[in-house]
Amino acid sequence: MADHRSAHSVIVARGLCHAYGRGSTRRQVLQSIEFTVASGEIVLLTGPSGCGKTTLLTLIGALRSVQQGELEVLGVPLQSADRERRRRVRRRIGMIFQGHNLLRCLTAEQNVQMGADLLPGLAYRQRRAIARQWLQAVGLGEHLRQFPHDLSGGQKQRVAIARALAARPRLLLADEPTAALDGRTGREVVELLRQLAREQGCGVLMVTHDPRILDVADRLVTMEDGRLLAGTLRQSER
Ligand SMILES: Nc1ncnc2c1ncn2[C@@H]1O[C@H](COP(=O)(O)OP(=O)(O)OP(=O)(O)O)[C@@H](O)[C@H]1O
Ligand SMILES: [Mg+2]
Repeated sequence: MADHRSAHSVIVARGLCHAYGRGSTRRQVLQSIEFTVASGEIVLLTGPSGCGKTTLLTLIGALRSVQQGELEVLGVPLQSADRERRRRVRRRIGMIFQGHNLLRCLTAEQNVQMGADLLPGLAYRQRRAIARQWLQAVGLGEHLRQFPHDLSGGQKQRVAIARALAARPRLLLADEPTAALDGRTGREVVELLRQLAREQGCGVLMVTHDPRILDVADRLVTMEDGRLLAGTLRQSER
């Protein structure tokens, strides 16, 4: 595929715009976004409620179609991409959204195995082994057989992270992954994300309101009224 074209960028957005509604209820939510994330880079996105962060994340996650502007994710142009192309890109992205999205009727292990099921050419036992490995990596090796309702908020969030990483994504998108967690657990979860992402060399884009985790980022980006503000900060410059 077209992966080599932007070998060093996992996300490239140029003049990306998005609006909800039509006619008199039409509302422009993203205004000409210019934005790149390099592979292996950890970028935090902050900004007031309603400014468009989740909208941007769902566009990058190929969960919505691009209306205007250019968006290339993992080397694949998403503008005018059909469902099939969007689906192919989605398979290579790990997504952690609020509310965990775990399947309640599946155990922790089975939920994580759903992530591993996206890897081609593996037998059931291999996929199960991967699921166990990741649950151990997030500190849940003792909770394989538990269902989501028997896990705490932080544990559920870890299962969601393990599931995202079990698919060996090249890009990880997380929407307020620490919102439901207390300070210490939130910190642990983010440290874990960073460590695991570094080991796998994937880019991370994380929306957060949590000031306690800002220092894990290589770069902070602020959004206001659908625009990305200039003056992003690199860790080394602070
Ligand atoms: N499906 C939708 N249809 C219509 N309007 C929407 C839709 N989703 C979001 N919006 C509106 O678009 C704007 C941006 O929403 P978005 O969810 O991207 O904001 P956000 O920055 O993620 O906010 P928060 O920090 O509260 O999660 C908001 O005004 C919201 O009401
Ligand atoms: Mg949001």
